[in-house]
Amino acid sequence: MAEERLKVLLTRRWPEPVERAIAERFELTLDSADRPLSQTDLASAMAEFDILCPTVSDRIDAEVIAGGDRVKLIANYGVGFDHIDLAAAEARGIAVTNTPGVLTDATADIALTLLLMAARRAGEGERELRAGRWAGWRPTHLIGSALAGKVLGLVGLGRIGIATARRAHHGFGMRIAYYGRREADPAVVEELEADYFADLPGLLAASDFVSLHVPGGAETAHLIDAEAIAAMKPGAFLINTARGSLVDHEALAEALANGHLGGAGLDVYPEEPAVPPALLGLENLVLLPHLGSANEETRVAMGMKALANAEAFARGEALPDRVV
Ligand code: DGY
Repeated sequence: MAEERLKVLLTRRWPEPVERAIAERFELTLDSADRPLSQTDLASAMAEFDILCPTVSDRIDAEVIAGGDRVKLIANYGVGFDHIDLAAAEARGIAVTNTPGVLTDATADIALTLLLMAARRAGEGERELRAGRWAGWRPTHLIGSALAGKVLGLVGLGRIGIATARRAHHGFGMRIAYYGRREADPAVVEELEADYFADLPGLLAASDFVSLHVPGGAETAHLIDAEAIAAMKPGAFLINTARGSLVDHEALAEALANGHLGGAGLDVYPEEPAVPPALLGLENLVLLPHLGSANEETRVAMGMKALANAEAFARGEALPDRVV
């Protein structure tokens, strides 16, 4: 049966094959210049389109959602949805979908990238070399930390946490510990030889490296605050590929500057694209610009997943990745 040509707005440019596939099935609108939309434009879009496809860089708050009552599906391009006011959407009968599963490996790869770069001081080394400051090989130059036998503590052992743990355990010989509301699937625990901590301070005190894999939002805001950082082992490393809101960056900057922490690696920030200024001068910190899902295959798969949700919506079928 032919699908209705519903009006779809992409707030940013998506990979070309996905844009083409969407345009074949829907009346597609996008900004070829790929500029972020203002809150006013987002609110107006609610009255003009049937399906809104935002990204993590859009704030779909209650005010935006109140902008009109034409949009009936918000098909988010991404797995995280803390930038969307779900309660406001639900109250107006708007469905919200995300793209789980397809960015697991890419995000775990970036967690390991940060972990390796921080442990082996790769950012510092590259900056030194490019600045012409490298004085040559010597036994005491830029000494980092080994990974084998060290404890990687995962805060959250969902899909991305497991994929990160697999790489660290099977690839680098790290020991795995995790904190979560409940114990993970016994088969996964056995495979990873993972130790469970029912309390966060216990995990933090036991880990040489801590990697965050829980969603953003009010419940997890500043989960890693000054107290949590103080509970981490002296010289430990913090890795965050989840959401910037999880970490108190003032406290993190202080712990990196005073040497309590050995290093950190961040891919996400609370008010992107702004980076908390206190972080920028720290040599023992690796900073990436939210690259977790940024590989060709993953970004196409994310778009195709959003499209599958839009198609199901157009056909009046159950939405495969419905959040509300
Ligand atoms: C996600 O999917 O939530 C990423 O952080 C952004 O794409």
